[in-house]
Amino acid sequence: MELVSGMMDGSLSYQLKNRLEPVLSGPGVQPDANMELKEVSMFEGCSARQLRSIARIARVFDAPAGAVITRVGEPGNEFYLILDGTVSVDLSVGKPVSLRPGEFFGEMSLLDGAPRSATVVTDTPVRLLVINRENFSVLRREVPDFTQILLVTLSRRVRQAEQRADRVDATSATV
Ligand code: CMP
Repeated sequence: MELVSGMMDGSLSYQLKNRLEPVLSGPGVQPDANMELKEVSMFEGCSARQLRSIARIARVFDAPAGAVITRVGEPGNEFYLILDGTVSVDLSVGKPVSLRPGEFFGEMSLLDGAPRSATVVTDTPVRLLVINRENFSVLRREVPDFTQILLVTLSRRVRQAEQRADRVDATSATV
């Protein structure tokens, strides 16, 4: 089960020590449209009404360093935007990719309905804005250029993944 699915119903999250162990976490809070959301670059084109609408559908969660937010192969029902801290995306090939505040993850499973493509672990304590599957369409409607942002990000990630695969091929060819 994912960290935030657990947090949404007030139950569990996971913390990475030597192995994964459950830790308790809170239920999350509604973000402040005028403060927290206004600062997010993805929302800079949003009107006050749109920010209020996003605030209604989103929840803010704090997670400690070492928490597993998504686990590869598991079903995924949430989209995550990093408000503070950094996470690592552990990919099957090459080094983990670090994501920073303003960046997002978890969009792939919401878009295609397939299981999580990667395990995402917090590197530092993080603050995440979380939007569930039911409300993802609201985000797409309320954020100007959201589809464009998604497409550009996905294109960039595919390109980086191909470059990583090429590097791995080149390394194994020389061994
Ligand atoms: P999803 O598959 O839902 O859950 C894992 C997430 O990791 C995925 O969505 C993307 O948001 C993110 N992710 C997958 N591959 C990459 C990549 N190559 N670079 C950055 N993020 C990625």
